[in-house]
Amino acid sequence: MARVLQVASEIAPLVKTGGLADVVGALPGALAPLGWQMDSLVPGYPAVMAALTGAQVLAEWPDLLGHPARLVAGQAAGLSLIALDIPKLYQRAGGPYLNPEGRDWPDNDLRFAALCMAAARIAGGDGGPVPDLLHLHDWQAGLTPVYMAALGARQPTVMTIHNIAFHGLTGGERLKALALPEAGFTLDGFEYYGHISALKAALVGASALTTVSPTYAQELTTPEFGMGLDGVIRARAGVLTGILNGVDTQVWNPATDAAIRPYATPAGKGANRRLLRREFGLRAQPGPLCIVVSRLSDQKGLDLLLQALPALTEGGGQLALLGSGDRRLENAWLDAAAGHADISVRIGYDEGLAHRMFAGGDAVLVPSRFEPCGLTQLYGLRYGTLPVVARTGGLADTVIHANEAALMAGVATGITHQPGDPSALAHALAQLCTLWADRPTRARLQRNAMKHPVGWEASAPRYAALYNSLTPEAK
Ligand code: ADP
Ligand code: GLC
Repeated sequence: MARVLQVASEIAPLVKTGGLADVVGALPGALAPLGWQMDSLVPGYPAVMAALTGAQVLAEWPDLLGHPARLVAGQAAGLSLIALDIPKLYQRAGGPYLNPEGRDWPDNDLRFAALCMAAARIAGGDGGPVPDLLHLHDWQAGLTPVYMAALGARQPTVMTIHNIAFHGLTGGERLKALALPEAGFTLDGFEYYGHISALKAALVGASALTTVSPTYAQELTTPEFGMGLDGVIRARAGVLTGILNGVDTQVWNPATDAAIRPYATPAGKGANRRLLRREFGLRAQPGPLCIVVSRLSDQKGLDLLLQALPALTEGGGQLALLGSGDRRLENAWLDAAAGHADISVRIGYDEGLAHRMFAGGDAVLVPSRFEPCGLTQLYGLRYGTLPVVARTGGLADTVIHANEAALMAGVATGITHQPGDPSALAHALAQLCTLWADRPTRARLQRNAMKHPVGWEASAPRYAALYNSLTPEAK
């Protein structure tokens, strides 16, 4: 089997702040049947070190960017992991990026540069099995090609852009501390307006680039979505492809989900809906019970949803929201819930509750300003919880709008609307309420949604084909 090392800052189910973790956690299982053995290099966070079984030290490095480091291989949650154990950098309370007060760790540049340096050393044969190819995820893995070049490691690299909004910038004066070559600090290299950009390092240095949906791959080439890196993306458009994310259809399976009252048809949602209304303190009523499960950040457009809410509640709909993040948005949502009996909010992060919401909800709202792929609309499809989504990125690629033609052809799976526009969103919510009252149409949409393929069947072979094309000699 050919061997690929993926490099990432989070991996489900061990460490997760968003969809990146889900994708990184799912890829090894999806690629194994296609002839690729995938190991995952991740920082040795407390949750990772505690979960490792069969741990074996692959290397001990006295000095990795100024810190003694160990590479520890082991299994956890069915994954083959290589943990970079540097207690000073990773054994901390708090999240992978933020301290317990919610602020970025001040040494994040070094924490993730060390991860990239470790990846390069593995590629160079200095610890553990030598991979045929490296698959890098987001800026945290971005410096890997630079360190590989410095060490003379020549394997091909694939860089997946999950979100171009995060560049991994640090000051130019950090070159030495991060052991980066002065020669790379140029317009053609990893320099970005006087800063070091870890993401740009991979955008210019990786053998191939992918992102997580075909539409986002197009959008990235434009100033509106490229976040200042669209020029770099355009220069490398020839090696960029969009490969849609899948979801783990074992974990997200309404027929077997242990967190819910399992069901195989939309009719089975009734018991879950009743329980969910009770859990959120919402009264019984005939309109659609909408859900949101999301990070609360500007990207997700939930401020626009606050403006559009009257269209939902006046149409007889309700909303249950689970999310956390931006403090101002958290407070705005708590205020909205305090002011309306049909809106209920939980601030926090809760996987079990997310499952119960998809099972009991009638529609999932994803009004993002931009969305590289998005996973919650896919859970919505799978659970017959109609997605109402902004027509952008992966949302546009996965939801078929219920216009007249699609309804007549019997292929519609949800409602899409123009992104960034509260009145378009209000219109979509009003359409949902109308559609909801039309029982046969509603049932047809739900059935279509539940039939829509959302697993890795289509996308895993595309990754494998890309890997194969880059490693003609690997077996
Ligand atoms: P992003 O990665 O931009 O946050 P995605 O839709 O790709 O968006 O992935 C988000 C993932 O995080 C999904 O698995 C979603 O269910 C989960 N999630 C987000 N917020 C919460 C929350 N508050 N509680 C539980 N799960 C959440
Ligand atoms: C990012 C994006 C999201 C995508 C996820 C996994 O967090 O915001 O759209 O689904 O990565 O690729």
